[in-house]
Amino acid sequence: MGVMSYSPQPAILDFGTSQHTYLEFDLISEDKTAAIDHLLTLVATSVSTKTGAVIAVGVRPELWAEIGEEAIPGLEGFNDDLLGEKGFVMPATQHDIALWIHGAQRDSVFDLSRKMIRELAAVFTLAESTDGWVYQHNRDLTGFVDGTENPSPLEAPAIIAAATGGSVLLLQRWKHEADKWESLDVERQEAVIGRTKDTDKELENLPENSHVARTDQEDFGDMLRRNTAYGDAANHGTMFVGVAAERSIMHTMLESMAGITHGIRDALTFFSHPETGSYYYLPPAERLQQALEAADTEDDE
Ligand code: HEM
Repeated sequence: MGVMSYSPQPAILDFGTSQHTYLEFDLISEDKTAAIDHLLTLVATSVSTKTGAVIAVGVRPELWAEIGEEAIPGLEGFNDDLLGEKGFVMPATQHDIALWIHGAQRDSVFDLSRKMIRELAAVFTLAESTDGWVYQHNRDLTGFVDGTENPSPLEAPAIIAAATGGSVLLLQRWKHEADKWESLDVERQEAVIGRTKDTDKELENLPENSHVARTDQEDFGDMLRRNTAYGDAANHGTMFVGVAAERSIMHTMLESMAGITHGIRDALTFFSHPETGSYYYLPPAERLQQALEAADTEDDE
């Protein structure tokens, strides 16, 4: 086996944290190159064992390519609404950069998030902010175990690495229609997901409109999901956080869920709907390391 010449940003594979914040920003500065330099330096110098929180940075693919950084060829943002069966819409709400900050405690994540917003304010303006949290160890707010068919952290780096380095992030906030969902008995909920609720086993007679049948990784390719619960007792849902080597792995899953591919809409989409949707390029850790070295050199001068 060859030695990988690049590795994912540490925060992507830092498991076991319970408090997450997702920030999306729009560029307000004219000088795109300087803005991204500032961002990478800020993030690189904030990756620390001392803050109690980790941070990953993503950039809108077209912006990354435009400033001449090494990009995944042809990678695009979430630029058009995805129109599905029976009026179902996955809205495109693309922004310029995303920060995913997480840690064991709310205060560390809060402080690091505030610092980022403040220190980016001259060049990026905050457009979306969502707080995520862990529900019952590994379940989403449908009550089902979420993440079962994920690769192990040992396999994940190779699975999520694009051929040219880096990875693709899909951020999509799904609001649950909780009353409607909770009015289903457990058997009907299991038919929607395609797995058993308590014991988390794939159903033997998997309904073709079940979520698991619509997103089967054997059909679309493997990916890493790091979803969290978001919201309060009244308004809540799933912050979908997907990482893959190619955008098409996740986008064909979305098309399949929306009923575009086979005319079979994912049953889950009748109980939850996306409010946001954006793709970001996640540069490899080596690119942040480069920014850190550049910052250290400047300090020495
Ligand atoms: C409301 C939003 C969503 C919820 C609550 C949700 C929940 C779940 C649950 C409970 C499972 C079964 C356990 C597991 O393997 O993790 C699952 C599987 C999966 N989901 Fe989702 N999901 C959501 C959205 C999405 C989206 C938007 C995608 C793709 C872009 C996706 C991709 C997958 C994949 C790839 C699997 C594993 C399928 C397999 O067995 O290979 N999910 N999801």
